[in-house]
Amino acid sequence: MTDHDALAAIPKLELHLHLEGAAPPAFIRDRAKRNHIDLSRVFDEQGQYRWQGFAGFLSTYDAVCTALKTPQDFHDLTLAVLDNSASHGVIYTECFLSPDFCGGGDLNAWRDHLAAIDAAAQTAQAQSGIVMRAIVTCIRHHGPEQARKVAICAQETAGQFVTGFGMAGDEARFQPKDFIWSYDAAREAGLGLTAHAGEWAGPEAIRATLRDLRVSRIGHGVRAIEDRAVQDLLAERGVVLEICPRSNIAQGLYPKLHDHPVAKLRDAGVKVTVSTDDPPFFGTGMTQEYSALADCFGWGRDDFADIARIALDAAFIDAPARAVLQNRLEEACPTPT
Ligand code: HPA
Ligand code: ZN
Repeated sequence: MTDHDALAAIPKLELHLHLEGAAPPAFIRDRAKRNHIDLSRVFDEQGQYRWQGFAGFLSTYDAVCTALKTPQDFHDLTLAVLDNSASHGVIYTECFLSPDFCGGGDLNAWRDHLAAIDAAAQTAQAQSGIVMRAIVTCIRHHGPEQARKVAICAQETAGQFVTGFGMAGDEARFQPKDFIWSYDAAREAGLGLTAHAGEWAGPEAIRATLRDLRVSRIGHGVRAIEDRAVQDLLAERGVVLEICPRSNIAQGLYPKLHDHPVAKLRDAGVKVTVSTDDPPFFGTGMTQEYSALADCFGWGRDDFADIARIALDAAFIDAPARAVLQNRLEEACPTPT
């Protein structure tokens, strides 16, 4: 077996994947055509997504989402995304789903879209064994009022499939405290909590997110590297970072993987996990992430098994389903005694 094949075969748990952001460009081109939407500006000559810088990324992302109109579009997208994840050895994935892109925050429209996504997740699980759970996600730059609608969608549909609440979008807009109402509502509904922070804003944004939104996980959080006290806080509280190395590099946060803080954060005792964020935008996939980490930092099977166990502990999933995944992981990567 080549190294690449060996890495592809390691069971992986992905905690940070945006469903729309994982849409293959060919899928979006097809839906844009069917739904009569002109999206020519979002594709480059090679047919890949065209974007530059974080603002450009968000703008292309929003445009891509306009091609997805119906519950059937989201059903088919979910099948395509899960099929691809399973081909990378992913056994468990949490996807960010945004009611803002599924009916604009209207509860009934959200229920229809969610039912279609859930049905696709069941089909994918029956086909490849991959298990999916949903993190209902507000978009920060759409503002706190819209986030309340999203939190109500999350509250009303919390259950076996919807297990988390999150926030993505432009970190330069609004403060974590502006979203306290939404996070409190989600917490009361029993949802696991995560928020993007410390990606574009500095370590103080991580501190504010922990204080005001009381999350157990942070999306990215890489800029904790700039403040030892924030690293200590994360380590002491066992907060898990959903780190997406290639996303940070593609968006220009760090020039190369060598400069990325993932290994230093791990060495500082912070719990890190590895995800792809929006893989076709960043030219990545879980196997490519693992491969690059192995080459750059010398991580091997034991390191990746350790990361998978951290992800499993931090997963927003019920105990029986967690136990099934634990058995699958243990079978492939026995815990050293
Ligand atoms: N950051 C913020 N918003 C996003 C991202 C991200 O990495 N991906 C999709 N929306
Ligand atoms: Zn993200």
